[in-house]
Amino acid sequence: MVFGIGFVVVIGLVFVLFGGGDQQIAPQAQAHEAVVYREATCGCCSQYVAYLKRKGYEVDDRVVSNINEIKAQHMIPQEMMSCHTTMIDGYVIEGHMPLEVIEKLLAERPEDLRGIALPGMPSGSPGMPGAKQGSFQIHGLMYDSIEGGRVGMMREFMRF
Ligand code: CU
Ligand code: CU
Repeated sequence: MVFGIGFVVVIGLVFVLFGGGDQQIAPQAQAHEAVVYREATCGCCSQYVAYLKRKGYEVDDRVVSNINEIKAQHMIPQEMMSCHTTMIDGYVIEGHMPLEVIEKLLAERPEDLRGIALPGMPSGSPGMPGAKQGSFQIHGLMYDSIEGGRVGMMREFMRF
């Protein structure tokens, strides 16, 4: 009888320690923070911020007076530029990037890439009105683009 009660207490303790413990491990804490740089007058940029928030991201919404300074800082090639620039988990993400593409980047973490870009403001992309016309070509911004002061080495990351 004493053995029986002791056994029940031990099982109960194990449940409290390990069963209850699971819920204290905060899920998805890291990949869900984004810093968005945009200019105050950009309407579609606000729409993109709203999109990230709707998808569960915690957004640090930074309104700057000259977005081109941010693009220069992050070495976004001219032909890759869009309206706003986002930083997530150390990656630079240019433009109206669909979340599915961001999640692929964060899951795969390709060694040669420092970020990705969806140039322009294509119709049907997150935060942009209109219908999507075919698939988006997503460009990977490569680390070695910095070599010799040159900016612009890219490769296709995916089509989406
Ligand atoms: Cu835009
Ligand atoms: Cu924008």
